[in-house]
Parts: sequence; C-alpha cells; structure tokens
Amino acid sequence: MTATILILNGPHLNLLGEREPEIYGRETLTDIEEACRAEASRLGLVLEFRQTNSEADLVDLIQKARRRVAGIIINAGALSHTSIAILDALQAADMPVIEVHLSNIFRREDFRQHSYVSRGATGLICGLRSHGYVLAVEAIARLIKSPPIKNSERQK
Ligand code: DQA
Repeated sequence: MTATILILNGPHLNLLGEREPEIYGRETLTDIEEACRAEASRLGLVLEFRQTNSEADLVDLIQKARRRVAGIIINAGALSHTSIAILDALQAADMPVIEVHLSNIFRREDFRQHSYVSRGATGLICGLRSHGYVLAVEAIARLIKSPPIKNSERQK
C-alpha cells in the first residue's frame, strides 16, 4: 500500500515570498508544495500539504493523522517555540517526524533557539530555506522504510 505523508505549516507561512524574504527566501508556499509533491511522487509517496495559522487546528490535524499517515513533516513557525500542545500531539502520534525551519533558528534571536517540537521530532532540518522541505521528504521516506527507533522507545 502507498504510504501517505503529511506536511504541516504553521502561522504566517502562507505569507512566504512576501514576508521577510531576506530571512525566508522568495519562494511561496505553493512553490514549496510543488517541489515536495514532485519529490514525494518520485519516492512513491502520497503527500498531504496543509497550512494553518491556528495552534488548535495543528493539534487537530496531528491527532487525525494518527494511524492514518506514515510520517509527519512540520514547520510550526513561531508555535515551535511555545507550544507544548503540539509537542504532546506529536508524541502521541508516535511516528517518524521531521521538523523543518527555513531559517537557521540557532543563528537568530535567543527565543527562537528553543523548540518544543524538536523534542517530539526524529530529526531537524533548518537553515536551508525551501530546499529543507525537499530533503525532509527524502528523509521521511527512508525513516518509513526502516525506522531507526520507535518514538515511544526514544531516550528520555
Ligand atoms: C520559522 C522560524 C520561526 O522562528 C518563525 O517564527 C517562523 C518561521 C522558519 O521556518 O524559519 O515563522 O519556523
């Protein structure tokens, strides 16, 4: 059966291309979606791609993805730095998770240098702008084929 992966985008990522292009690049979220669709189809994966400005909607989308999709790629935007609810949802989903940020959050303000999402993620890609999403699709395909370690068995 073909595996489905879910790419989730949080607040303000709908503004990509216009918003602080010197930090996030000039590509729009639609450009990123198209690049991810091409990579997913090359790898034989079905892709669902969503954006919402709402923390509650992100939690609902992750909850509904449990047992339905094989892996999640998430750029939770500013909610990465604040949301224990999203972390809890990812941990409950118990599947491969790749966290993506367009910018290198570790070269930015102190408040961006901690991510709750990272604790629920199998891996993190940041600082490579839109290409990070495409790399994340490749990474999740590998994790789905041969998971290194189940999230529930992850070191505390
Ligand atoms: C971001 C980094 C976050 O700190 C910021 O709030 C965003 C975008 C990124 O992709 O670089 O909205 O997640």
